[in-house]
Amino acid sequence: MRLETQLIHSPHANDLATGALSTPLVLASTFAQRDLEIKQEFDYSRSGNPTRKALEATIAQLENGKCGFAFSSGMAATSSVLGIFASGDHIVAAEDIYGGSYRILHSFFARWGLELTTVDASDGAAIKAAIKPNTKAIFLETPSNPLLKITDLAAAIAIAKERNLITIVDNTFMTPLLQRPIELGADIVVHSATKFLGGHSDVVLGLAVAATEELGRRIYAVQNGFGAVPSPFDCFLVLRGIKTLGVRLNAEQEGAGEIATWLTKHSKVAAVYYPALGDHPLRETHFKQSSGAGAVLSFKTHTTAIALDFLARTKLCAPAVSLGGVETIASYPVRMSHAAIPPKERERLGITDSLIRLSIGLENTDDLIADFEESLK
Ligand SMILES: Cc1ncc(COP(=O)(O)O)c(C=O)c1O
Repeated sequence: MRLETQLIHSPHANDLATGALSTPLVLASTFAQRDLEIKQEFDYSRSGNPTRKALEATIAQLENGKCGFAFSSGMAATSSVLGIFASGDHIVAAEDIYGGSYRILHSFFARWGLELTTVDASDGAAIKAAIKPNTKAIFLETPSNPLLKITDLAAAIAIAKERNLITIVDNTFMTPLLQRPIELGADIVVHSATKFLGGHSDVVLGLAVAATEELGRRIYAVQNGFGAVPSPFDCFLVLRGIKTLGVRLNAEQEGAGEIATWLTKHSKVAAVYYPALGDHPLRETHFKQSSGAGAVLSFKTHTTAIALDFLARTKLCAPAVSLGGVETIASYPVRMSHAAIPPKERERLGITDSLIRLSIGLENTDDLIADFEESLK
C-alpha cells in the first residue's frame, strides 16, 4: 500500500471490537486489576493507554520502525530519547537543528554531563572529525530549520554505522509521507507531531520511533520513568490529523513550490531557501532520500525593515511560531524558533534579521501570492 492509503487504513487506528472507524478515546488514568495473577496490558495510563497505543503503533508502521512512543511535545520526545544516554557520553549534532533542540543539548543535557559537538552535517568529513571515543550518537535534522540545508542521510548513517553509533533523525519537516529515515538505516526518528502530523494548530505532541526492540526498551524506560506522556485526547487528535496528512501535505507542498518560485523573482527578495529550487546546492541529495520538498520555505529580504513590514502587513499569514497547520504561518526565526541561539552564532549560521520562514497552508495559492505582493510593497 502507498503511504496515502496507509495513513487512512492504519490497522491500529480502528476499533476491532465495535468496528468504529475512529480510535476509541480512553480517558481512564487507571485500570482495574481484578486478578493480580494475570499481567494486564494496561494498568496505569503513564505506562500505557489504549488510545496512545493506537497512535504509537500507527507512527511505528508509517516510519517502518519496530516501536513507537508518544510524548507530551516534540521537545519531550527529543529529550526523552536523549535520556537513553548517560553522563560522559558524547553526541554529534547538526549545528542548525531546531532552536529548542539546540537549547536542551547546550543547557540541560550539558549540565547533566552529556558532551556535545555541533557540525555542519552536510559535510561528512566534519561529522567524522567530530567523533570521539565516547561518541554514542549523531543527531540530524534534514531539511534543516530554518535554512533548509540538506544532510545526506545515507552518507551520515554509513559513518555512524562504521563506529556503532546511534543515528537520530528529527523528521518533523518531511513526515513519513515524504521521507523515512529508518528505511535508510537510521535508528531513531523523532517528530514534533504538533506540526504536519496533527496539522490543525490545535495540539502539542511528540513522537519517537525506534528501529529495534532493544532501542525501544530503552526509550520506553524513559517514557514510563520520566513520564512526559500526552493526554489520550491529544493522541486522538493526532490520529485524526494523520488520516488527512496525504491530501494536506501534497496540496501545501504544491503551493510552497509555486510561492518559492514566485519569491525568487521578486525585487525585494534577496534569497529563497527551498529544496526543490533549481539552485538549491543539495537538491539532488534531497530528492535521493525524499519524495518531495515539503511545505516549509524561507526567504531573506534585502533589508530587515522589509521583513518586519511584511510580517506587520500580511493579512493571510499568521505571524507566529510553529508550522505544518492548515493555515499559512510566517515565522521570524531570530525572535521566535531560534531566539535561544546566541546572536553571533545565529549570524554565522545565516539566520539573520531579514529571514522569514513560511509554512504554507491550504489557502488558495493565488490569494497567498496577492497577499505577499501587497505585504512586500
Ligand atoms: C523540527 C522541530 N523539531 C522539534 C520541535 C519541537 O516540537 P514541540 O514544539 O512540539 O515541542 C519543533 C518545534 O517547532 C520543530 O520545528
